[in-house]
Amino acid sequence: MTTTNSDKPRVLTGDTPTGRLHLGHYVGSIENRLRLQDEYDCYFLLANMHAFTTRAERSREIHQDTIEIVKDWLACGIDPNRSTIVLQTEVPAIAELSWFFAMLIPFNRVMRNPTLKTEIDSKGLGDTYPFGFPMYAVGQCADILVFRPKYVPVGEDQVAHIEMCREVARRFDQVYCGVDSHAEDEDYEAQGGVFPIPEALIGRIGRLVGTDGKHKMSKSLNNAVFLSDTPKQVKKKIGAIYPGQSREPNDPGDPDINPVFTFADVFIKDAGAVAEMKERYRKGDNLGDGHVKMAVVDAVNELLEPIRERRAQYEGPQGDAAVVDIIRAGTERANVVAEETLWMAKEAMSLDFWRRSLETK
Ligand code: TRP
Repeated sequence: MTTTNSDKPRVLTGDTPTGRLHLGHYVGSIENRLRLQDEYDCYFLLANMHAFTTRAERSREIHQDTIEIVKDWLACGIDPNRSTIVLQTEVPAIAELSWFFAMLIPFNRVMRNPTLKTEIDSKGLGDTYPFGFPMYAVGQCADILVFRPKYVPVGEDQVAHIEMCREVARRFDQVYCGVDSHAEDEDYEAQGGVFPIPEALIGRIGRLVGTDGKHKMSKSLNNAVFLSDTPKQVKKKIGAIYPGQSREPNDPGDPDINPVFTFADVFIKDAGAVAEMKERYRKGDNLGDGHVKMAVVDAVNELLEPIRERRAQYEGPQGDAAVVDIIRAGTERANVVAEETLWMAKEAMSLDFWRRSLETK
């Protein structure tokens, strides 16, 4: 059964296809999405254009990464019958709104966006990044606002982008829809604004540490446990985490400086059991580091097992084709909302010369 665009409040979020998803994505955002699927009209965007900001010459790879990330989503339980999976590059209204929004935000404001600055540093982009790199932050405002969502579930690192998006929405509504600049955020639509002021929803874990025990889990830092890792790979990666100290099972230890306990807190469901392990660790009550690691390995594998099973259904070229069908159906549905928003924006901006119809199948 396929749902049509519903009257439920909308949620939009997205991922840049950079490779496979890892545990940090799961607890930072995916988990939240699964929870929201029933209550909201959810749109999950494949930000494939954004992947070109740093990999323009690797377009084939981006194509495949786009398909792989959808496999991860489906494997996690994103249900394409309830939620809409959207391919950014086939939603023309996003590119068009990006231009409109680029006129409403000072260049220097974009360049001060802390998430962009951090990315320039951490990815070593120096001063050779393309014009399109800072432009993606403006594009992200369009990704979001084209769906006029109430919530945007994201990881902590995206909050600066959502804040910029909120500023753009307010500015548009003030400039073109006559909304009072003192209006409360929740009143913008009621006062005639085209865009609601969306709110970020931060996941249970804003930032998950990687298996290096230091940095945020990330594919590029080589410290990630991927959702598609085999039980053996999980065991090997968790097993190799440095526990922050050197001790024997009967030495008192400090669980608070041991990153394995961070994983225990996040992934072991029985909080009492974790508390007990910490207590024994502190006392040096016959609790080896290997034991704590195994408990974490088991918990992570328990989470990943159903994900691996579902992912297996999409193996091979047939799986790829099935995924493309899903993206295509979702994008078609998304374009109904996107075209409607674009027209509302054009009307507000006196660009309503005529209303176009667009073949977006
Ligand atoms: N920039 C986001 C990331 O790297 C991905 C993204 C693109 C996004 N468009 C979005 C997230 C819109 C939320 C809303 O994770």
